[in-house]
Amino acid sequence: MSSASTLGVAVVGTGRMGADHVRRLATVVSGARVAAVVDVDPERVKRVAATVEGCAAYTDPAAAMADDSVDALLVASPGPAHEATLLAALDRGLPVLCEKPLTPDPESALRVVAAEAGLGRRRVQVGFMRRYDADYLRLKELLAAGTYGRTLMLHNRHRNPASPPGFTDRMTVDDSLVHEIDVTRWLLAEEITAVRALRPAPSGQAPRGLQDPQLFVFETAGGRLVDTELFVNCGFGYQVSCEAVAERGTARIGEDHGLLTNTAGRWGGEITPGFEQRFEGAYDRQVQRWVDATRRGEVEGPSCWDGYAAAAVCAAGVRAQATGERVEVALAERPALYR
Ligand code: NAI
Repeated sequence: MSSASTLGVAVVGTGRMGADHVRRLATVVSGARVAAVVDVDPERVKRVAATVEGCAAYTDPAAAMADDSVDALLVASPGPAHEATLLAALDRGLPVLCEKPLTPDPESALRVVAAEAGLGRRRVQVGFMRRYDADYLRLKELLAAGTYGRTLMLHNRHRNPASPPGFTDRMTVDDSLVHEIDVTRWLLAEEITAVRALRPAPSGQAPRGLQDPQLFVFETAGGRLVDTELFVNCGFGYQVSCEAVAERGTARIGEDHGLLTNTAGRWGGEITPGFEQRFEGAYDRQVQRWVDATRRGEVEGPSCWDGYAAAAVCAAGVRAQATGERVEVALAERPALYR
């Protein structure tokens, strides 16, 4: 590390997520400093760099990687830009926290897996931040302990108040369902083997051309079934929940029951408006744990293999969506590094 006391991080991509990670690294997380920011937009990168003292601004990730004060990268550029940055970082042996997706398709994800496997040691953590959410962590702990017997099914709900302009059916899989894909693989500790996509009556609230809501069903290697309601224009708030059904009990998280009020003959609470609020603690914990592990010279959390497997399930999901058929997931052989 360039400085004995802190990890010098270059944040690549200073849009919605990147700017938030800059704020997080500068004001929430301990043990790190934002040494540089990178964005192809020269005005934006200068603006974001100006928010942190001593932070350099670059328009090319390679320039930041060559900066002596940069020890690690946090990649928050759009998915299609990830592969080039990751391969260059792996070439230099730099540790990386890469926002999901690892890359947007299984072929490019497999190239990153091969590059890291070739190094013989992990360098990259993928930003599947639900694994750091306090509720999901409790659910994982409960299921892993086997207290209720074997887990048989998961029921997920993923609701957004409104989809961003230009959101397509494919993006509902690649950008939204991908989180349930990772959560399923992580909670059940096995691969997803097939995907079905079902279309209920479309909501009149959905933009023209977007199928909303949708119901996805995953089969897993161990014969478990997982369903996910994806409703990205529900109108009322951001809601993510997961119920696990096991042999001797069920467990549910994400009901958002924080403050409960009683007034004027009614009881009620609040629904979080967006993912930033719902998963704020998870983003903070994810980045803090990454900084801590990196300073110890270790890599933990979701791996390039997890990023690749998620991309492979997404590809099957997109085909299932387009054909209405059950689509099997095609997975390459898992390199020894990820076993
Ligand atoms: P955004 O569009 O707001 O920002 C992306 C930024 O990257 C822009 O400023 C753009 O100019 C810059 N950029 C484009 N190409 C670049 C390159 N080659 N090198 C450096 N900068 C480049 O996008 P947003 O929403 O911040 O998403 C960024 C990443 O975060 C994506 O991978 C996305 O999937 C992920 N994401 C993750 C979420 C999560 O819950 N974990 C939630 C939302 C986004």
